[in-house]
Amino acid sequence: MSGQQPPVALSTRSLVAGYERDLPIVRGVDFSIRAGELVIVLGPNGAGKSTFVKAIAGLVPIHSGTVLLGDFDSTAVPTHEKIRHGLAFVPQTENIFATMSIHDNLLLAANVLPKEKRSRRIADLYAMFPDLAGRPSLRAGQLSGGQRQMLAVARALIVEPAVLILDEPSAGLSPKIVQEVFAQLKAINEAGVTIILVEQNVKAALAIADRAVILVEGQLRHEGPAATLANDPIVAELYLGARRSGEVPTP
Ligand SMILES: Nc1ncnc2c1ncn2[C@@H]1O[C@H](COP(=O)(O)OP(=O)(O)O)[C@@H](O)[C@H]1O
Ligand SMILES: [Mg+2]
Repeated sequence: MSGQQPPVALSTRSLVAGYERDLPIVRGVDFSIRAGELVIVLGPNGAGKSTFVKAIAGLVPIHSGTVLLGDFDSTAVPTHEKIRHGLAFVPQTENIFATMSIHDNLLLAANVLPKEKRSRRIADLYAMFPDLAGRPSLRAGQLSGGQRQMLAVARALIVEPAVLILDEPSAGLSPKIVQEVFAQLKAINEAGVTIILVEQNVKAALAIADRAVILVEGQLRHEGPAATLANDPIVAELYLGARRSGEVPTP
């Protein structure tokens, strides 16, 4: 595309992050996503995908490098501050309160909003997720896997984030439900929310994404338009060849 590109919504520069200071898991990642894009983060198990997105969200220590939200340097900013700057993160597990009702899950997420905005925003979310609207007092733990993910997404959207990051929302779901969840994410993206999606469901995720990046051993090994990568053998190579780094082509 030429001329005016949308602004960069989130970027990392030389990001190094990990759970212990002498053990970097994410090893120098330059990543950026423009406003309105849907980018998937692919890569074999243990590549550091979850660590990467958790570091962006402020949930894993950053050793060096930067995380920018738009122009704002959020590298050293705590998670709740990042939320205020437009970042929402849906972790892979424990992303809802199973013993609480659907409504209470949403109320709790809405707590960060000014009081007068809360009920309107929850009503917006119910309009977006009719499955949840029909039974606000149902305990979240009673929901199906797909509906639980939708509740987790609804909670994240309460604050009207600019950028939504999801870590493997399709894990454990049947192929049909994966399609439904992905269709919902695509709709959210088309409504203007920039999305970073960590996925193992490569084919289904490439079908809804604009672009994909492939993380191998904590480094960004390849990236490209989703439509191109869908038929590119490098995707399989980077997955299968993860333990034979010598044979893995670099960009
Ligand atoms: N809480 C943790 N504490 C220490 N090491 C961890 C933790 N979580 C993950 N790791 C390690 O970080 C590496 C990358 O893991 P992860 O980011 O979960 O990869 P992926 O999401 O790509 O499967 C793995 O070697 C894993 O053992
Ligand atoms: Mg993971």
